[in-house]
Amino acid sequence: MRVGVLTGGGDCPGLNAVIRAAVLKGEKRYGDSFIGFLDGWLGVIEDRTAPLGSARCRDILDKGGTILGTSRTNPYKERGGAERVRATLAAEGVDALMAIGGDDTLGVASKLAGEGVTVVGVPKTIDNDLSATEVTFGFHTAVQIATEAIDRLRTTSESHGRVIVCEVMGRHAGWISMYAGIAGGAVDVLVPEQPFDVAEVCELLKAHRALGRVASVVVVAEGAVPKEGSLSVTSGEVDQFGHVRLGGIANVLAKEIEERTGFETRATVLGHIQRGGTPTAYDRVLATRFGIDAIDALHDGGAGTMVALQADKIVRVPLSDAVSEPKLVPNELYETVARPLFG
Ligand code: F6P
Repeated sequence: MRVGVLTGGGDCPGLNAVIRAAVLKGEKRYGDSFIGFLDGWLGVIEDRTAPLGSARCRDILDKGGTILGTSRTNPYKERGGAERVRATLAAEGVDALMAIGGDDTLGVASKLAGEGVTVVGVPKTIDNDLSATEVTFGFHTAVQIATEAIDRLRTTSESHGRVIVCEVMGRHAGWISMYAGIAGGAVDVLVPEQPFDVAEVCELLKAHRALGRVASVVVVAEGAVPKEGSLSVTSGEVDQFGHVRLGGIANVLAKEIEERTGFETRATVLGHIQRGGTPTAYDRVLATRFGIDAIDALHDGGAGTMVALQADKIVRVPLSDAVSEPKLVPNELYETVARPLFG
C-alpha cells in the first residue's frame, strides 16, 4: 500500500514519533511505501511532497515539531480544494492517507472519508481537548514545560515579593493551566471553563500575602474569561477554521491586580515554548502506540476512524465522533482537585 502522511494544525511534541512508528511498522510488517505531504493539507492541495522511508525516520523520535511541516489550511475553504486533494492523491498513486492533527485537521479527514477517501486519523494537540481520546500526545510535554516555568517563577516571585501572572496555552480548554497550576503550586488557576471574578482573585492574593513573603504565582489560561466580561483579550484575527487568536490576558490581569491590591505584579506569557522541543518519554510512547495502530487500521478495515486512548488501551473511534465536541475540564474535577489548593 502507498500511504500519504501529513501533519496539520499547530505543531506538537511527538508528531515525529507517530510518523516514525507508522513508517517502521508499515515497511517491515506490510511492505508499505510512504510519501510525506508538506505543510498539512496545503501540501496535498499543491502536491508538494517529500520522500518518507525508514532511513529518514530513524533519528526523529526525540525531535520536536514535525519533519513534514504544518499549516492551518482548510481545503474546504480553498477554491476547488477538495477536488485538488483528490487529484493529488491520484497523481501520487496514494492508496490511503494518515492525517495527524487536532479537531480541524481531523474534521477535514472526516469529510474526505465521507466522500470516499481512505484515511485514518491520529489525534494530536497540546491542548488535550479532543473528546474521543483521554489524552493527546503533546499535552504531557506542555504541562511539564509549564510546570518547570512556574517553579522558576515562584522563586523570583518570592525574592521580590511580587505577584506573577503566568499565561499558558490551551485555547478554550483549561487542561494545561489546571495540570501545570496544580503541579507548580500556583496560588490560583483560572481556566476558561470557570469564569473568574477579579475581585476574588485579589482577595485570595491578599489572604495569601498575609502569610508573609511567599511565592505568589497565578496561572491563567489564554482562554480564561472574567465573569463581568471586561478583561477579554483577543487579536480579532481568525484562521481558516474560524478560531480566534488568543493571548494577552496575563498582561491585562497583572495590571488589574496591581491596581486593586497594590502588590507589584508581573506577567509572563509562556506561548510557543510550550509547543517546542523534545517530547517527554510519556508522549513518545503514546505517539508511538498511535502510529503503530494507525498503520494497522489502514490494513485491517479501520479506515475512517481515529486512533484513541481509552482506559490505557488504543481503540478506534469513527472520525466523525472524534471531532464532535471539545473535551473541557469538568466542573467536578476543578472543584475537587484544584480549588481546595488555592490561596
Ligand atoms: O492548539 C494549539 C495551540 O497551541 C493553542 O493552545 C493556541 O491557542 C494556538 O495553538 C496558537 O496557535 P498559533 O501557533 O497559530 O499562534
